[in-house]
Amino acid sequence: MGKTNYVVGLDVGTSKVSACLGQLNDNNQIQIIGVGEAVSEGVKQGMITDLERATKAVSKAIEEAEKISGLDIGEVSLGVGGSHLRSQPSRGVIAISRSDKEITPKDVERVIDQARAIPVPLEQEVIDVLPQRYIIDDQDGIIDPVGMSGIRLETEVLIISGGVAAIQNMVKVVNKAGLRIKDLVVGSLAASSSVLLKDEKELGVALVDIGGGKADIAIFIEGNIRYLGSLPVGGDLISKDIAFGLRTSFKEAEGIKKEFGWAKRDLITNSGEIAVTGIGRREARKVPMEALVEIIEPRIEEILSIINREIQKSNLVELIPGGLVITGGASQLRGLEQCAEQIFDMPTRIGTPSEMPGLSQQSQDPGLALSVGLVQLSLNEEMETGHFHKKGKAKLFEPIERWKRWLEEIF
Ligand SMILES: Nc1ncnc2c1ncn2[C@@H]1O[C@H](COP(=O)(O)OP(=O)(O)OP(=O)(O)O)[C@@H](O)[C@H]1O
Ligand SMILES: [Mg+2]
Repeated sequence: MGKTNYVVGLDVGTSKVSACLGQLNDNNQIQIIGVGEAVSEGVKQGMITDLERATKAVSKAIEEAEKISGLDIGEVSLGVGGSHLRSQPSRGVIAISRSDKEITPKDVERVIDQARAIPVPLEQEVIDVLPQRYIIDDQDGIIDPVGMSGIRLETEVLIISGGVAAIQNMVKVVNKAGLRIKDLVVGSLAASSSVLLKDEKELGVALVDIGGGKADIAIFIEGNIRYLGSLPVGGDLISKDIAFGLRTSFKEAEGIKKEFGWAKRDLITNSGEIAVTGIGRREARKVPMEALVEIIEPRIEEILSIINREIQKSNLVELIPGGLVITGGASQLRGLEQCAEQIFDMPTRIGTPSEMPGLSQQSQDPGLALSVGLVQLSLNEEMETGHFHKKGKAKLFEPIERWKRWLEEIF
């Protein structure tokens, strides 16, 4: 197996940084070679709050991935998310002037460029343009117009922009860790590629990635992102409540939540008592399981209700019979699926990165959905080189000129 064209997906989260390394094996299947993880510091809800600490965390995750794989990592595909992302629909129309009237990839590029040319606020920068559909003359719903004939080509796109400062600082951290950035990819799009089924995306589905500090929401209809949102709610809120309620440290509370936590009282199967270490040198105390769940239940219900309100606000609920897929580290809370099903009143499942060779041990960790998805997107793109317009992803992976310039300026 040639170890040359490997790719690295980097997710700089509030709780952890993960670097996932993958390549195509001899059968052209995506294989994960290694995942490096580090506790995150200096990052909050997709934004950098401390450059030095965040750089250290990124370096640590990369070093771990290098150690596992025996490879040198120089370039990464970086996921971006958080409330600084905005999405905005736009349209482009061009005339096909050639005599044969056959639409070429260049025409598709031209129509997307036209749709992209809309004013964005000064503090925002376009990071992605996602074609939704094409219209040739009066024929609607065209997925791939290349090779078809027509006089007028029209497209509807979703323009994704991000906060200039938020992205610049994230880029700075990655560069300071000695890495080049190959692509900036919308995090939800990456996560969707590792946890959503193609049929779900076509049918209509909401993907919710609940991390430590935020919940990223993406609604897919007919295979495309139609709605993006991010809320400042995540698993850290639950751990903080536990730390406060049981008078213990945040770290201890995290451990208790992961080992004994349940989302709902009536689902508990492991009743009994938990030993809780107090802050300072206090002796460990015994706390009944019920007391722990009494803390978790109202908070997780609140988090899910806030997410539900956001999804309702999109006015797309009628268009998502595929229901809800919850991923991200916080989706591992026991009983979350049942709790969410009640609150959202939709079919719900927990999304873990799809089974791939080399990912066996970690495949059950939904916290890796984003970094694994980055690898998938990047390698799929490599396989499709020359067919950039396929699946309506024109320009998706091309560094947008302005941030290409930032990279040059910073590096
Ligand atoms: N087994 C578990 N049970 C419950 N919660 C868990 C479990 N494992 C991890 N978590 C929680 O998941 C959260 C971290 O999720 P994740 O790793 O996806 O976050 P992140 O991507 O770093 O953060 P963000 O996306 O918010 O910036 C933490 O709140 C952590 O306590
Ligand atoms: Mg995350």
